[in-house]
Amino acid sequence: MTPEEEIKKLTAELNQHNYNYYMLDNPVISDEEFDHLLRHLQDLEKKYPEFQQPDSPTLRVGGTVTKKFQTVKHIYPMLSLGNTYSEEELLEFDKSVKSLVNQDVEYVCELKYDGLAISVVYENGILLRAVTRGDGTKGDDVTANVQTIKSVPLRLHGDYPSFFEIRGEILLPFDRFERLNREREDVGEPPFANPRNAASGTLKLQESAEVARRGLDCRLYYVLGKELPYQNHYDSVMKLKDWGFKTPEVIQKAATIQEVIDFVHHWDTERKKLPFPIDGIVVKVNSYELQRQLGMTAKNPRWAIAYKFKAEKVSTQLLSVDYQIGRTGIITPVANLSPVQLAGTTVRRATLHNAEVMSTLGICKNDYLYVEKGGEIIPKIVGVDLSKRASETEKIDFITHCPVCGATLSKNDEEAGTFCPNELHCPPQIKGRLEHFIGRKAMNLDSLGEGKIEILYERGLLNNIADFYDLQYDQLLGIEKHFPAEDGKPDRIVSFREKTVENILAGIQQSKKVPFERVLFAIGIRYVGETTAKKLARYFKSMDALANATKEELMEVNDVGDRVAESIIHYFNQTENLEILIRLRNAGLQFALSEEENTQISNVLEGKSIVVSGVFSIPRDEMKRKIEQYGGKNVSSISKNTHFVLAGDKMGPEKRKKAETLGIRIISEQEFYEMIGA
Ligand code: IVH
Repeated sequence: MTPEEEIKKLTAELNQHNYNYYMLDNPVISDEEFDHLLRHLQDLEKKYPEFQQPDSPTLRVGGTVTKKFQTVKHIYPMLSLGNTYSEEELLEFDKSVKSLVNQDVEYVCELKYDGLAISVVYENGILLRAVTRGDGTKGDDVTANVQTIKSVPLRLHGDYPSFFEIRGEILLPFDRFERLNREREDVGEPPFANPRNAASGTLKLQESAEVARRGLDCRLYYVLGKELPYQNHYDSVMKLKDWGFKTPEVIQKAATIQEVIDFVHHWDTERKKLPFPIDGIVVKVNSYELQRQLGMTAKNPRWAIAYKFKAEKVSTQLLSVDYQIGRTGIITPVANLSPVQLAGTTVRRATLHNAEVMSTLGICKNDYLYVEKGGEIIPKIVGVDLSKRASETEKIDFITHCPVCGATLSKNDEEAGTFCPNELHCPPQIKGRLEHFIGRKAMNLDSLGEGKIEILYERGLLNNIADFYDLQYDQLLGIEKHFPAEDGKPDRIVSFREKTVENILAGIQQSKKVPFERVLFAIGIRYVGETTAKKLARYFKSMDALANATKEELMEVNDVGDRVAESIIHYFNQTENLEILIRLRNAGLQFALSEEENTQISNVLEGKSIVVSGVFSIPRDEMKRKIEQYGGKNVSSISKNTHFVLAGDKMGPEKRKKAETLGIRIISEQEFYEMIGA
């Protein structure tokens, strides 16, 4: 078999496995076997990029970096739907439809997915382009990101038209949304308010590998084109499924508006069991001919309408406001409420988000507040019931000083966050950092937990992360504390018995083997999450090199922007942090990549200064690592001393011009692989 044939065969095979897994829910090979085949294809594509297929499953993994999304004009404008909120309005919709077409009408009911609209164009069965709604006339080209969504087909099956557009909704299921928010909180980033915001933020990311990791999903339901072979919406959706699209799982014909209303009622309760968010029901006239007759108003089609569920909302009295301080000092105001039933649970506390939200709401003492379940998850305050406000009352101002350590708070404009700048001495920040350090993805000290950390902090045994390595058996044995029940957690006693202490000390000993990249994540530099820590570790290879890096050098690393670079520099400028690092180093923690992680493969590039520019089939920092593994040196700007420029797709025109003027050779990714013999 020629490489081209093998690539084609593997592509088809892997796509069939993806289809079995994601669409039919019926995998026929194990995940390991799949990964093995995928890696093989990746290797072949690296060697022979000219044979990569437009529907290659490797596109799912991402790896491209889009600096700025291109604006693309929609072929047909992307309209939105009129909204209704009551049965009466649905009856009116039915009446107006019938008066316009003068006959009985069959409707189709679907769930209204709460994500963001997308338009995808297919040419000869291959995904050509994916564009966001934007202003309805033109949107952003997010093709590379949409290609990573496993439920969006890259190649269609069957008798599809040669050119058409399909529209639908990109969404983030609840479990992935929660995972993402946990990760963000881990690194001190503000969590997304709901899955829709998270989906929309994700689709606009520049790095498609991160989009792939977050696990977006989609439903596609609206096909547009010149020669579509069906007469109605329902049959089209059935056909879409045959072509390989993930279509609405719930779709029901309704002969009367009463059947539509029954569907709406049914799903108003059933929606709570769905694993993804919906915010209503969409009702569509089934027949295309009738849709054409009905046409549209300036903004919306007359043949469809959205029924929006009422967000479950109750009003209850404010008792007090607490301020929580996170590991990175960000302050979150929380309302303590008179207990109230909401969507099946008793709510006693709800978030007020931040200072800005609180001041916009203008909350006063003893106010009655409206509480809503944001995306059905964390209760939030959405407004004030002014009719119940006492005549004599007093506005509640956001605190100016940290309620725990007393420091004057600072404002972080970019994130509407107010934070306590006393990072080194503010107790909740210290405890937060200790908890972060022991986390599973950090040092994984699982024999310790929040309760034990609190006790050891109170006893003065743990003040910073280096203290873990000074803990002694005799200091720990026999310590005990009673934690009364609070916030849904039961009453409990935490005690340090022999076995517990042995486990703790063994875990601490074991943590000295944790690789450098995780140590870097564990020390808790603000904005340095798990992925960034990995990239920094691979790029700088040691704590010392990282500590000495300039802002420009830090920003050479993929995904490291101004904010992250400044935060790293700030961290290494604090004497207290440097002292902690010295102690950790002396304790034996991994402060550099291991031999194995850092081996040089060959010296073919010895003495060569290389500038990397553009987008490659692998992330740019991996490319730079390769250069080093083969003995070369990465430099950031082109000069007469540059040996060659390694150019990927979309290399900047300025760089190209400069290389040409200086007569520096420009080589492609493929030429590079040939050069290093990979
Ligand atoms: S049909 C002409 N069906 O809701 C517009 N839209 O407010 C045809 N949406 O733009 C749209 N689920 O982003 C349709 N089953 C569904 C939907 C749905 C969610 C979104 C979509 C649309 C918006 C309308």
